[in-house]
Amino acid sequence: MKFAIMGTGVMGRGWIAQCAMCGHEVHAYDSSAGALTGVVDACVGFAGKAAKKFKIEDPQLASKTKGNIHVHTKLEDFVAAAKGCDVFFEVIFEDLELKCSVLRELVPQLPDNVYFWSNTSSLNIDVLGEASGRPKKAIVCHGMNPVPLMVGVELVPCVKTSPETVEHARKTLQERKKLPFVAPNSPGFGVNHTSLGHPQGTFKLSDFVSSPTMLRVALEMYQASSDPRLYPPAILVRMVKDGAFGPATGKGFYDWSDPRNPKPRDMSEYRVKTAEDLTGALK
Ligand SMILES: NC(=O)c1ccc[n+]([C@@H]2O[C@H](COP(=O)([O-])OP(=O)(O)OC[C@H]3O[C@@H](n4cnc5c(N)ncnc54)[C@H](O)[C@@H]3O)[C@@H](O)[C@H]2O)c1
Repeated sequence: MKFAIMGTGVMGRGWIAQCAMCGHEVHAYDSSAGALTGVVDACVGFAGKAAKKFKIEDPQLASKTKGNIHVHTKLEDFVAAAKGCDVFFEVIFEDLELKCSVLRELVPQLPDNVYFWSNTSSLNIDVLGEASGRPKKAIVCHGMNPVPLMVGVELVPCVKTSPETVEHARKTLQERKKLPFVAPNSPGFGVNHTSLGHPQGTFKLSDFVSSPTMLRVALEMYQASSDPRLYPPAILVRMVKDGAFGPATGKGFYDWSDPRNPKPRDMSEYRVKTAEDLTGALK
């Protein structure tokens, strides 16, 4: 199969590695040149880790993974390549308006047979499916981070998704040693609403997800549900403002200067002490 993957950040890289490792041709694009730097090396690194974890005995795995990845720096080249793909997979920022505008512009240019997958953690797939113009072919394939090492994938169909699209995603992912399961289309789906199966504590996981993504997810879940319990905590806003994104910037809830031995940080500098503090943090 052939995949067109848009977004080469934390999750995009994981999915590119996963697909390439399994022998699929992958075309990747990101609007940020910085995000495209080191993509192939990161994917080869993931292949090595996955081989170790899942006991894959294939000395060619790294070279095959590398050979299957095509990185595009120009949007028009990526779109041209996506026209020959089976799946268009968006893995860009968790921002409903951004995703919708990209989908509205790009997906109608692709042949009708191309499936549309989204890796969103929380957004309404009914809305994304309509924006793509092909809701029958639309489905959330929500991977867990890091994708090549985690088996669970939430599949979330929209009301118009055809059973064939669900089956196609399920079969494709099962072939790749994943354990796909269908979850409801409600804010946070199953995993982010109930925090199932997290292999590490909340704060370390939050660092891996990164504070900007956590903030976007919290905002989207709050806006979609109006549930005050889901309102983003001020500490998260302050962390984002301070560049405390997680391992990528060396600090988050943990100090990541030694990535093998992260140490919990003293978070008192982010604490809200007065009402003025709170309104300041949210500006
Ligand atoms: N981080 C996690 O642990 C995690 C887990 C599950 C799902 N997700 C979901 O995966 C998606 C991506 O999250 P992430 O953590 O990889 O974020 P990220 O910030 O690491 O990467 C997002 C990438 O999208 C790119 N991008 C933004 N607008 C674009 C555009 N118009 N065209 C092309 N590229 C564009 C950015 O440059 C960036 O590299 C989100 O929907 C998020 O909710 C994240």
